[in-house]
Amino acid sequence: MKIIAGNWKMNGSRDSLVHMVTALQDIDSKNTVILCVPYTMLGVDGGRVAIGAQDASAHDHGAYTGEVSANMIAATGAKYVIVGHSERRQYHGETNDIVRAKAAAVIAAGLTPIICVGETMDEKQAGKTMAIIESGVRESVPNDANNNVIVAYEPRWAIGAGLTPTDSEIADAHKLIADTLTSMGLGGTPVLYGASVKGTNAAQIMSIPNVDGVLVGGASLKPDDFIPIITSVK
Ligand code: PGA
Repeated sequence: MKIIAGNWKMNGSRDSLVHMVTALQDIDSKNTVILCVPYTMLGVDGGRVAIGAQDASAHDHGAYTGEVSANMIAATGAKYVIVGHSERRQYHGETNDIVRAKAAAVIAAGLTPIICVGETMDEKQAGKTMAIIESGVRESVPNDANNNVIVAYEPRWAIGAGLTPTDSEIADAHKLIADTLTSMGLGGTPVLYGASVKGTNAAQIMSIPNVDGVLVGGASLKPDDFIPIITSVK
């Protein structure tokens, strides 16, 4: 059983989410399916699909105009929150420390954070991929996460670019993440792969050791693209 998570980013509408969850109700799959959608779409009944958000405040409540707390997200019935997505790190200056604080707030609200780590093209070319991944996990995942956490490896240079690392690069990254989590007392934490996942490469990627599922951006927006990813593995 795998975890198939969609990240709608700043796309879609309540109508398109209803259309998607309706299309997903009867598919023949035991995989866990999650859709992380904009805040304005939270509260839509996902049926067999778990609904998630894409960010949460590190704060509980108070004078933080524009922010939404993990407790507020939990009150909508959502179960997951992506934290530390590379677009948050890139456009909003989120560091590992900020991501860890947000993840802790998500866990405290009874939700599961999907914590993203991954290297930029510059870091890859400088030979720093493994160091960035390891520090990303050590510094972004709360030590006391108590196994209520999911990690996603998202090579930032491959997101939305139609590029994917080689199978052995994915295998090395996922083994490092699994070993790092084990050394933190978080062995068994699911580790997803994300970046340019589609129906044509999902099964191969999910056959790589230590890949427990996928985090899908563009190909999660339409049932015709998303369903083949979900049904590509048992
Ligand atoms: P992509 O995005 O599947 O469109 O590459 C993945 C992500 O940003 O989570």
